Amino acid sequence: MRQVTTVSGMQRLARRWKAEGQGIGFVPTMGYLHAGHLSLVKKARQCAGDDGKVVVSIYVNPLQFGPQEDWSRYPRDLARDQKLCLEAGVDVLFIPTDEEMYPAAGVPGGAHSTYVIEDTLSRRLEGASRPAHFRGVTTVVAKLFNQVLPDYAVFGAKDYQQAAIVQRMARDLNFPVKIVAAPTLREADGLALSSRNKYLSEEERPQAAILWQAIQQAKKAVQAAPEPLAADALKQQLVQLIQSQPAARVDYVDFFNPATLEPVAQAQHGTHLALAVYVGKTRLIDNAGM
Ligand code: PAJ
Repeated sequence: MRQVTTVSGMQRLARRWKAEGQGIGFVPTMGYLHAGHLSLVKKARQCAGDDGKVVVSIYVNPLQFGPQEDWSRYPRDLARDQKLCLEAGVDVLFIPTDEEMYPAAGVPGGAHSTYVIEDTLSRRLEGASRPAHFRGVTTVVAKLFNQVLPDYAVFGAKDYQQAAIVQRMARDLNFPVKIVAAPTLREADGLALSSRNKYLSEEERPQAAILWQAIQQAKKAVQAAPEPLAADALKQQLVQLIQSQPAARVDYVDFFNPATLEPVAQAQHGTHLALAVYVGKTRLIDNAGM
């Protein structure tokens, strides 16, 4: 496994592979890797083929964190990530420094003045709770696409809205890359794997399964109902269920159209549910189709 830390080095390598006719599968991450990330690596390998190349990037992108968010304390463990990538058969681990990503910035992100903004899907759900978050995501993902030159880029359904926005960006701006979505990996109690789960205390950790329990309850209700259900009433039930856990506080629970991300008045088969819940100080998100 090769490790690349410069943008020019990454582009040189990618151009050489392209000249040799090798496909490139790409998994962008912020590191502190878990089995969810590794399932995306597996998918990238399937897309690129045995002769193709798989690139994983690790970059904790300051541009997508709000001023009160956890950029500086976001978990990092490069030695462990390197080992996991090596074992997973990754060809290149791309770890750009802040100076490479946002040059001339005294503060990371400080002197950067060009942004990619997806202007419709980004406004809802996570975008409403975290202003400028998706602007940071689309900007860094566009940069990473220009650096890695992937044929395929794999994103997790765990971040449903992120995958939809990246897909829209690639379409709107004609990035020559196929965006591939991969299913959410979960712990035995249903909690979606996430680097942020590390923040949960011993008391909080079992309570975090409430997100999955809420999803299950919603699915059951929708599937058992002979007619579409009023989304607001179902939402109230889910909020109550979630807040029955002492450490849990709901940020949002929303039913929406999976293609447009527009809210719906009625929940039925095919409707999508997304939720964001604070468990203690840790903000967790999850989603599922009904
Ligand atoms: P990060 O949170 O590290 O996630 C990297 C990728 O792993 C994303 O596509 C995410 O959806 C996926 N992922 C996370 N948890 C998962 C799980 N339990 N099952 C399956 N896939 C999972 O998302 C980001 O980083 C950043 O926003 C990034 C796209 C790298 C841009 O900075």
